[in-house]
Amino acid sequence: MLGSKAVKATLFATMLTLIGLALPLQASAECKLVSTKDGSPLPIVAVDTDTPEAKSFLATCINPYTKLYAADPEAAKAGKKKFGYYSCTQCHGANAGGQVGPSITDDRWQYAKHVTDKGMFETISGGSNGGMFAWHQQVSGNPDLVPTDDILKIIGWLRTQYQGGGDKPWLND
Ligand code: HEC
Repeated sequence: MLGSKAVKATLFATMLTLIGLALPLQASAECKLVSTKDGSPLPIVAVDTDTPEAKSFLATCINPYTKLYAADPEAAKAGKKKFGYYSCTQCHGANAGGQVGPSITDDRWQYAKHVTDKGMFETISGGSNGGMFAWHQQVSGNPDLVPTDDILKIIGWLRTQYQGGGDKPWLND
């Protein structure tokens, strides 16, 4: 029979193993972003200049601005400003209702994953095979293009403009 010392030692060893397993899992917690073009990983990482919101998204895939803007239309204007600043308006219209590019405010999504902020972020960041450029500065290699935080603000605002019916799954996260 095992003495209680042996049992304790075994328990202790098991705990150490569990902690050892948990730590690397936590350290590598990240949002695994993939290209809408071909499903390959998107090369986007947190950088020193990123806001806490951007860093949080890259760790969790949850856009902190979505719920914030849903509750505060005044704050959401920051996202609309970015949408104009980067000339998204040229193809999608001033209120994202569609022009040369599709409407982003109706319930017809170009890719089903656009009902999630992660999916929409992937198309804006890495582009698509159907006419969207890769807008993220790290994907395009152009520092004048869009940083993570600005894409999140744009998405947060776009969600407030939604005109379709049904669920709003982006508010569930
Ligand atoms: C040159 C025209 C053009 C510009 C500029 C442009 N887009 Fe697009 N966008 C498109 C086209 C075309 C599609 C459809 C892509 C497809 O189906 O693969 C699209 C699709 C999208 C979608 C998916 C819409 C849906 O209904 O599923 C989003 C979101 C989007 N664009 C956001 C943006 C943002 C944000 C910007 C600015 C940073 C931007 N676009 C600038 C042409 C443009």
